Amino acid sequence: MAADDHIGALLARLSRPQKLALVRGATDPEGIATGYLPGVEEAGIPPFRLVDGPLGIRAEGQRATAFPSSIATAATFDPDLARRHGAAMGREATALGQDALLAPGVNIIRVPHCGRNFEYLSEDPVHAGAVGAGLIDGIQSADVVATVKHFVANNQETHRTTVSAEVDEPTLRELYLPPFRSAVDAGAGSVMTAYNRVNGIHMSDHERLVGDVLKGEWGFDGYVVSDWYGLESTVGAANAGLDLEMPGVAAPGAAEAADSETEGGDAAFEWPDGIPDATRAGLFGDPLADAIDSGEVPADRLDDMVRRILGQMDRFGRLDSDQTAAEGGETDDDTGELDSQRHRDIAADVAARGTVLLDNDGVLPLDDGADVAVIGPNIDEPKLGGGGSSETTPIHSVTPVEGIESRAEGAVTTAFGVPQIESVSLFDLLPFVGEDEEADGAAEDTADRDQSLDDAAEAAAAADVAVVFVRDATTEARDRESLALPGQQDELVSAVAAANENTVVVIRSGGPVELPWREDVAAVLEQWYPGQADGDAAAAVLYGDRDPSGRLPVTFAPENEYPTVGDERRYPGVDDEVYYDEGVFVGYRHFDDADVDPTYPFGHGHSYATFEYGDAETTGEQTVAVPVENVDNRPGREVVQAYVRPPSVAGVDRPARELAGFEAVQLDAGERQTVELALDDLAFSRYDPEDGWTVDTGTYTVEIGRSSRDVRTTATVDR
Ligand code: BGC
Repeated sequence: MAADDHIGALLARLSRPQKLALVRGATDPEGIATGYLPGVEEAGIPPFRLVDGPLGIRAEGQRATAFPSSIATAATFDPDLARRHGAAMGREATALGQDALLAPGVNIIRVPHCGRNFEYLSEDPVHAGAVGAGLIDGIQSADVVATVKHFVANNQETHRTTVSAEVDEPTLRELYLPPFRSAVDAGAGSVMTAYNRVNGIHMSDHERLVGDVLKGEWGFDGYVVSDWYGLESTVGAANAGLDLEMPGVAAPGAAEAADSETEGGDAAFEWPDGIPDATRAGLFGDPLADAIDSGEVPADRLDDMVRRILGQMDRFGRLDSDQTAAEGGETDDDTGELDSQRHRDIAADVAARGTVLLDNDGVLPLDDGADVAVIGPNIDEPKLGGGGSSETTPIHSVTPVEGIESRAEGAVTTAFGVPQIESVSLFDLLPFVGEDEEADGAAEDTADRDQSLDDAAEAAAAADVAVVFVRDATTEARDRESLALPGQQDELVSAVAAANENTVVVIRSGGPVELPWREDVAAVLEQWYPGQADGDAAAAVLYGDRDPSGRLPVTFAPENEYPTVGDERRYPGVDDEVYYDEGVFVGYRHFDDADVDPTYPFGHGHSYATFEYGDAETTGEQTVAVPVENVDNRPGREVVQAYVRPPSVAGVDRPARELAGFEAVQLDAGERQTVELALDDLAFSRYDPEDGWTVDTGTYTVEIGRSSRDVRTTATVDR
């Protein structure tokens, strides 16, 4: 039977209450899933479980591989590696009995302070789209539904549940929607709506963006799920195109916590900023039945919701017709895989390959026999991720000290230097989460451990090389207050650099940070949040076992140079409206337009090898080829990037250049390869407010090079 007929026949057997039970989440009897649908046993529809993402599987009370943060995966500029990463997460979800993964997050990095940038991919839509598609393809290759989130314009955590992104149509079309479009084209089975509003309308109720654009124009045939407690209305959401309410049930203890805080319920309880009202649930329960009865929601809308959910269950083998309900959703031959050697390797590969060598005066790679001082307030713990729904608890992890100790042949000494940087977590902000349930990594009392700047400087002075590990602390539901490193870490780096000229700084951050000491140190590495492989990945890159082949997916610049800083209309917004007045001039598009030199541009990152570019050639309507040679005596990985400069057209204000394509290539010493790059339509088109997508006639210059500011050769394309 064709899939549609099969679903149609199944749908015909379901009663209305059964259908209603398939569009609203319920409590997972095992208490493991993030979201749960009970299924309909009589009809052979098994339970369906949704689980967080995107840094690994966050199944309640379970451990799983803690992969690097999404921004690290993006920094690899390697969609094939993203695919392997996605497949590994898919297999882990299966091993833990889960059916859909709440990942990837593909929101454009608009605000450098956003607390969730570590869960996102890029400031550029072509880049985010390509890496996101790789992740989705991988997750779904393991027969797990990928859930691309958060649709759309969820670019800050401050006021995330209420704020309206005031954004014009060309900007939405050219910047914020494309990564979701790429996800749909990659076959994502599910889309999660964002908490925020766009131009005044909550995303769960956004008929134009969810119904018309996503489902209509793009032909998305999977299901649209609300963010958790993020359903704004019954009728509005159902008619807009939302298919599944999650979690569908109030958080245990939420109502009581709200009541007790309001002293008898006189005043309205205020949820902390960034936290949705966790008592809000059941809008797709009885209220939906009533709305169908009253004709406010057409009855066939309920059928469509169910058809979409069952369609994805069927697509990924959850409705195998020869399966009995008792067998549940498990496909017979795939039990998944958890914490296997290959998953540990993938976690380590992504962490190492996503490492960006920002600066190096030659101190790196380290000599095997060098005496190393490992310094930093958190050298004895891995940097797994940021706080919130993506927190994953690993089975194994390697701290920076352990990683370096097991690789070094010289002496290794250690010093904390300054007080520990405490992790922050969304879970600490929840009024109904008890002390003992708080996230891992929450404050430990380390005040009385040995830590002084003098000890750190002494250890540095006595070693050949000082490696200082620094980090930020970010979480879902909170933005960073500043791009400066927290605590006294800047002082620590300066003190160490003054004591040893071979000072290497390894940054662990969710996005751009300021590096006031960067002229005083010998090398700087950015490792994002490396996950469980932390110390091993750091050592592999520091000692040159792995080439640091990451490139920046976000521009690094002084705080006040970003277009969202200094004008509260733009960020964090005024009266719950945030104006995207900069239009498409976000990230490198802004820095080009403002003619400001960033500290490190988008696409930047050194290799230990040296590459030479030959002359680029246009090989097709939208392809260019460029010979690249590794002229060094060591292997290396180059990320060849192509940016398109549009012709100038009177009255049209476009970015100077836009990323059109990229390709990562591994080259042995002396090896030369011609790299072919496909150029994305997006870089040629602009969205005209009157005429829609438009490609202006003229000559487009394709700049090919090592970053958005390091052009090595050009070609032209006439359109
Ligand atoms: C987050 C989502 C997440 C969901 C379930 C929400 O707070 O915004 O990304 O998937 O919770 O944990």
